[in-house]
Amino acid sequence: MITRRSFIAGSLAAACFGNGLMAARASQPPLTLRASSARARLLGQGRPETEIWGYNGTSPGPMLRVRKGEKLRVALENALPQPTTVHWHGVRIDNAMDGVPDVTQAAIAPGETFNYEFTAPDAGTYWYHSHNRSWEQVARGLHGVLIVEEEEPPQVDQDVLLVLDDWRLGEDGGFDSASLGHMMDMSHAGRLGNVITVSGQAQFARLNVRSGERIRLRLCNVANSRMFDVRLEGHKALVVALDGQPVEPFEPGARGLPLAPAQRADLIFDASAEPGTQHQIVLGLGDGEVLAGEIHYDKGAPARTHQLDAPMRLVANDLPGGFDVSDAREVQLLMQGGAMGRMGGAMFGGLHMGMRQLVNAGMVWAFNGTAGETEQPLFSARKDEPVVLEIINDTGWPHAMHWHGHHAFILEGGSAERDGVWRDTVLSLPGERMKVGFVADNPGKWLLHCHMLEHQAAGMSTWFEVGA
Ligand code: C2O
Ligand code: CU
Repeated sequence: MITRRSFIAGSLAAACFGNGLMAARASQPPLTLRASSARARLLGQGRPETEIWGYNGTSPGPMLRVRKGEKLRVALENALPQPTTVHWHGVRIDNAMDGVPDVTQAAIAPGETFNYEFTAPDAGTYWYHSHNRSWEQVARGLHGVLIVEEEEPPQVDQDVLLVLDDWRLGEDGGFDSASLGHMMDMSHAGRLGNVITVSGQAQFARLNVRSGERIRLRLCNVANSRMFDVRLEGHKALVVALDGQPVEPFEPGARGLPLAPAQRADLIFDASAEPGTQHQIVLGLGDGEVLAGEIHYDKGAPARTHQLDAPMRLVANDLPGGFDVSDAREVQLLMQGGAMGRMGGAMFGGLHMGMRQLVNAGMVWAFNGTAGETEQPLFSARKDEPVVLEIINDTGWPHAMHWHGHHAFILEGGSAERDGVWRDTVLSLPGERMKVGFVADNPGKWLLHCHMLEHQAAGMSTWFEVGA
């Protein structure tokens, strides 16, 4: 759904609009997110509804908006038939609020409520999603976007959000629950859907603009495993932030901007085309493409006769950087396994298992020879210790590696990621290696996993610890 800025703000965020003097350290009134089953018209008007799981009855859930430094309080009511949690993806959060079952909190049982309360230290585009059985709960729709507003937002006429998702639905439009957890998906590219939705609808979104306007476009890939290449036709759109963090503005290549699962991007473009014209927003899917939206120009006179002079860039967040790589703790993460891989076996549950035994246990991937999380962390860092993580993809598949509680600086991104940007999720391609660095300044136990959620469930998950 594409809406005007005023509409997008919604009632939840009413408190942060209008008054520029609103103290940045204030709290928002507490809000409730109720996780429950719901019905959604994913396929559009006149088509059958789909039973999904959503927050407050919708998927994506309500868009939450806070100011940088402001406290967010969310009571999560679990009306699902399963335990759940909420993870605030990309937020450098207090560990106790990170939403990882059995690591940072007990899963919230059906009928129970958990109060999340935290301060979002960095402006940008983030998201929230279930972190219990995420391969099922996120696939069923438990996710939403969290926007943390800049202290000095860029001057734009519209702030538009596109949430990219894919669903596997049956002929009758029903959610295909029978195929959840299939080993075939787990061991290959993950569970890909057959219906692409943009902000909850399969029909493409219409973005009404007036010539001369400046538009901010926020993109968030919430799909379990699908990657998208996003392309705007007829416009020069600059990427101004990746995973919430401002970057030196750049124009994506001809294929469009690649977004792996869990990645976000903010773009800014000037609506410089003729009044009355239409331009497509296209999603490349690797083996084809779909129309995600249409930029629809009003026939009226331009909003302004020349482009805004204000630069299209965002003010950087204050991330802990500036460390000397030669002082850093070096950690290697060797990814192995999957279909057509050469992994012969791995440790699981304290035992060494061959591939057949692993498959029987639902495990097909490993990090450093071990499938799934273990008692011992991958590494324990001292507080403020610089860490360089080398990610080696010895599998035949791409992976979207995500670490909790920190953003990392891409030192060597391989062919999929730009060097010199901050990210919380990186795309690692088959046969490639990459290096990311960060200062382990956030105490607690943090997950490090593939965000292709079937891969995470089938072994690609570990954790690290940061001392107090
Ligand atoms: Cu977006 Cu561990 O997750
Ligand atoms: Cu993966």
